[in-house]
Amino acid sequence: MPKALIPGSFDPVTFGHLDVIERTSRLFDHVLVAAVGNPGKAPPLFSLDERQAMLAEVTAHLGNVEIGAFEGLLVDFALAHGVEAIVKGLRAVSDFDFELQMAQVNERMSGIATVFFPTAPEHSFLSSSLVREVARFGGDVSAMVPAPIAQRLKERFGP
Ligand code: PNS
Repeated sequence: MPKALIPGSFDPVTFGHLDVIERTSRLFDHVLVAAVGNPGKAPPLFSLDERQAMLAEVTAHLGNVEIGAFEGLLVDFALAHGVEAIVKGLRAVSDFDFELQMAQVNERMSGIATVFFPTAPEHSFLSSSLVREVARFGGDVSAMVPAPIAQRLKERFGP
């Protein structure tokens, strides 16, 4: 199978993201994981460079995964990089409405289909926003993010 693109804010990357990345890397020859610079949300906690560095660190064991970043439309980035499939994780039915809409719009604009992975049950409660919230108030995020990410969160929020 050819090249897949996994887009996201990754602010920060969680065990849920990593699970989807690992499963995609087993199914596709090449996987491009791209952090979006303009997620259309509140200003991110980590800069685009930091988010890419964290992604590179936690995917270093996967030989067919490369890290990128983009601003603007996902489909423009996907077409420019010869991507054949966009991959997203689905945690719950609540994710589905918007993800379906985005998949349909993206396919209409580019001809590139989106493939959904159901998130592993042990990660289905996880989101980057929840991780940021727990870390902000000094909670333990070691079950939610890889150790280097937990460390960065600790440094960001201080003692
Ligand atoms: O991790 P997120 O924040 O849920 O990822 C959302 C993301 C980055 C995949 C989505 O916001 C996106 O594709 N943004 C790029 C802008 C774009 O193409 N928007 C139209 C999509 S229908």
